[in-house]
This record gives sequence, C-alpha cells and structure tokens, in this order.
Amino acid sequence: MPVDGVPPGRMPRHVAVIMDGNGRWAKRRALPRAFGHRKGVAALKGAVRFCSDHGIPVLTVYAFSTENWQRPSTEVKFLMELMKKTFTSEIDELHQEGVRIRFIGERNAFSSDITEVWNNAESLTKDNDNVLLNIAFNYGGRRELVLASRALAAKAAAGVIEPGDIDEDSLSAELLTTPCEDPDLLIRTAGQCRVSNFLLWQLAYTEIHVTDVLWPDFSDEDFKAAIVDFSQRDRKFGRVLEM
Ligand code: IPE
Ligand code: IPE
Ligand code: MG
Repeated sequence: MPVDGVPPGRMPRHVAVIMDGNGRWAKRRALPRAFGHRKGVAALKGAVRFCSDHGIPVLTVYAFSTENWQRPSTEVKFLMELMKKTFTSEIDELHQEGVRIRFIGERNAFSSDITEVWNNAESLTKDNDNVLLNIAFNYGGRRELVLASRALAAKAAAGVIEPGDIDEDSLSAELLTTPCEDPDLLIRTAGQCRVSNFLLWQLAYTEIHVTDVLWPDFSDEDFKAAIVDFSQRDRKFGRVLEM
C-alpha cells in the first residue's frame, strides 16, 4: 500500500494539489488550451486512483480559483462544461471505487444545472470512505476566510458566542475543508513557487513540493517522487528536533 521505500508512518494522509500547466501543455503542442484542460481531467483520475491504491485518505485539488473568472469567457465557459461533463460521465466509476466527492467553493455563482451535478455527485458518494476528493471550484482562500469570519460574527451578534471565544479551532470549524485535517503535502505542478490563493489557512505547516512537470503529464511516478520527497522532510512545527 504505501509507496515503495516510504515507511507507513511517513505517508501523507491529506494531499493538496495545485493542478497547473494545462495551458502550457497545450501550447507546447500548438493546440488550443482546451486540449490541455481535457488531458488534465485524465491526470486527475490517475491521481485519485493513486490515492486509493496507496491509502491516502484525502485529496484536495484546485480546479478553478476565484481569480480564474478573469480568463477569457470562452475558456471559463469551457471549464464549466468540462467540469459538468466530467462529474456526470465519471461519477459511477468514482462511486464504484469508493470515492467520496465534495465541492468546496462558493456555489451561488452557478446556475442550477451545475449545482445539480454537484449535489448529485455529493449525495451519491456521501457514504464512501476510500478516498475523500475535495474539488476546489470557485475557491479562494481569502474568500473562505471572509466567509468564515462572517459566520463567526453572525454567531457573536446573535449571542451564541462571545467575540473573545473565537480561537483557531472555532475559525477552522467554519472553513470549507472541515472536518479534514490540514494537508500534509501540497504539490504544485508546472513550476511556479506560489500558492495562488489556495488553502491559505490550512497550509500553515504543509510541506510544499513544486515540480516542473505540467499537470496533464503528472504520472504515478511523479506522485511517488513527491511522496518520497515529503517522507524525507523533518516536520518541526516550530520546535527543535531532538539531536
Ligand atoms: C491549470 O492550468 C488549470 C486551471 C487554472 C483551470 P492553467 O490553465 O493555469 O495552465 P497554464 O498555467 O496556463 O499553463
Ligand atoms: C491556480 O492556477 C488555480 C488552479 C490551478 C485552479 P493559476 O494558473 O490560476 O495560478 P496563477 O495565475 O499562475 O497564479
Ligand atoms: Mg496556470
């Protein structure tokens, strides 16, 4: 189950991925960007299977950011359609593989044909416990923190809590990834060393692995390399390790 050479205790339990590089993958082949996004879906299927095969219980992927609305409207529209098609055509297979699906992101930006696909995928797979796949779609870490703050402020205004009671646990409880533990490992493909508004709170002590591999090319071997890299890190959480 664990990756070869990695002790079970050194396997990540929650992996987050910034699936970047679809456009560059297409550009290198002189293809429209849409081809890269399509190939990216196949890479995502591979990553989910990898988690299932290697006992990684939670995978959180960045599929569409709150900033991605600024792309050309044809690309935005294509991504919406691709997401809808993917979670319609692949849902039975994902369900059979015991994958639980959750969409994390603000939903009120979408029409009912999209939210229906999400609701169906979530309700069909809600009891699965092999891999939890969080799909961050219309997700932004800053937005998530704004919404969490609003929820806490509303509770305080209603007298349910005192402002002074707000602490790290109560704020965490309002986040979209709840009840998942924070990611152990963040993988970003396509070489950029930035978090691009992904999981800003949750990444506080996450190990970061950046690879030049473009997301559509991301293979089991690349996933393994990320895990081997992770397994060799000393996670100190601010402490001094015993010498
Ligand atoms: C990631 O690939 C997919 C989304 C952001 C939806 P990009 O589309 O950002 O690919 P590059 O960065 O242009 O290569
Ligand atoms: C981050 O990639 C968002 C997703 C992978 C969905 P971007 O391509 O949007 O990020 P930047 O623009 O390079 O920071
Ligand atoms: Mg990009």
